[in-house]
Amino acid sequence: MKQTLQNTDVKNKKVIVRVDYNVPMKNGQILDDHKIKETLETINYLIEENCKIILLSHFGKVKTELDKSKYSLEPVAKHLKTLLNTEVYFSKENFSPDLKERIDNLQPKEILMLENTRFLDVPNRLESDCDTQVAMFWASLADIFVFDAFASAHRRHASTYGIAKYLPSCIGFLVQKELYSLDKLVMNPTHPFVVVMGGAKIEDKIALMENLITKCDYLLCAGGIANTCLKALHFNIGESLATNDMKTIERIQKLMLENKEKFVLPLDAIVGNTYDESYVKYKLINKIDSDDVIKDVGVKTLEKYETTIKKAQTIFLNGTLGQYENEKFANGTKEFFRMLSASNAIVVVGGGDSASAVKNLGYEDKFTYISSGGGATLEYLGTGNLIALENISEESEPIETLDL
Ligand code: 3PG
Repeated sequence: MKQTLQNTDVKNKKVIVRVDYNVPMKNGQILDDHKIKETLETINYLIEENCKIILLSHFGKVKTELDKSKYSLEPVAKHLKTLLNTEVYFSKENFSPDLKERIDNLQPKEILMLENTRFLDVPNRLESDCDTQVAMFWASLADIFVFDAFASAHRRHASTYGIAKYLPSCIGFLVQKELYSLDKLVMNPTHPFVVVMGGAKIEDKIALMENLITKCDYLLCAGGIANTCLKALHFNIGESLATNDMKTIERIQKLMLENKEKFVLPLDAIVGNTYDESYVKYKLINKIDSDDVIKDVGVKTLEKYETTIKKAQTIFLNGTLGQYENEKFANGTKEFFRMLSASNAIVVVGGGDSASAVKNLGYEDKFTYISSGGGATLEYLGTGNLIALENISEESEPIETLDL
C-alpha cells in the first residue's frame, strides 16, 4: 500500500492537496458535487491536524485564452466553503512568487484554493506536460503533498505526478478507499463474477476487457462494445457505432475465440436510423439492415442477461446498455439497472458514463460501490497501474526529499 495520510505526520504543517474538482457545471452552477464531497474527509482531517491547506485541481480542458473564462475554479471554492462551513480563500494566481507569502500568512486550519492548474496549459502545456519548474514551485509551497485526485491518477501532470517527486507525499482518504475497494471487489472478486461492458469506445476499453476476462466468469457486452464483437463475428450491424480499427477488431476476435464460454452477446435490438427520427424498430440481431443503427437491447437480450445476473455474486458495471438519454432507447438500461438492484450480488460501478447513468436514473444508493474515476478507474483495472502514484513511496520505504 502507498503511504497513507493517517500514517503521515501532518500536524501543524503546510499541506498541498491535489483534488479532482473537474465537475459538471452550467452557468456557474455545479450540477453534481459528488467528487467534491468525496474529498471532505481528507480536508476535515487536515483541519483537525491544524494544517495550512492549499488545494490544487484541474477543471475542463483548457486550450485557449477563451477557455479560461469557462473554467475558473472560483465557483467550486464557494461551494466547498458551504460544504465545509468554513472560509475557503481563492487565489486567481497559481504560479506566482507572491503565493509563498500568502501561504505563510495563512492561519492553521485555513484553506487556500488555487486557480485551475490547466490555466498553465496556455500557451505551453506546463501542467499537462508535467513541467519540472511548475512541479517544483508547487512543491516549494508546502511541507507535504497529499494526492487525493483519484479521477486524475492516470494523468502525468505537474500537479499529479510532478509534485510528489520533490516533496514527502501520501495518498488521501479518497484514493485509499478507491484502491482498496477496486482491489478487493473487482481485482479479487467473489465468484461467480460478471463483468458488464457497455458504452461506446472499445479502443479505450480493450485492455480492461483483456484483464478482466482472466478474472471473470461471464463478460456481458452491450452498446458499442457488443456491436464491435458482433462485427468481429461478421454480423451485419448496419450503421451502428463500432470501431473500424483492424487491430482492435483482431484483439476482440482473439479474446472471443479464447473465451467463448464467457462472452454473453445480445440476441435482439431496438434500432433507429440516421435520417428518420420516428423510425424505431425491434429486430433480431441477425436481421439488422444496412441502414439500421442499434440503439438499445431487446427483450430477449434482457432475459438472457437476467439469467447471468442471477448467478452472480459480484458484478462490475462499465457503460450503459443503450442510448438511455433518449427515452425511446432507455428501456434496456433502465430494466438492467432494476435487475442489478434486485440482485444480492456486490455491484461495483466504474467509468464516467456508467456512474452518471446510475446517478441520473436514481440508482446511486442501490449499488455497493461507485468509483469516482472515469478513465482512471478503467486504467487501474486494465493495467493495475496509475502513473500519478508512481512517485508516492510505499508505506515501509523511506521518503527521499529534495532541498528546494
Ligand atoms: C475525469 O473527469 O475523468 C478526470 O477529471 C480527468 O479529466 P481529464 O480527462 O480532462 O484529464
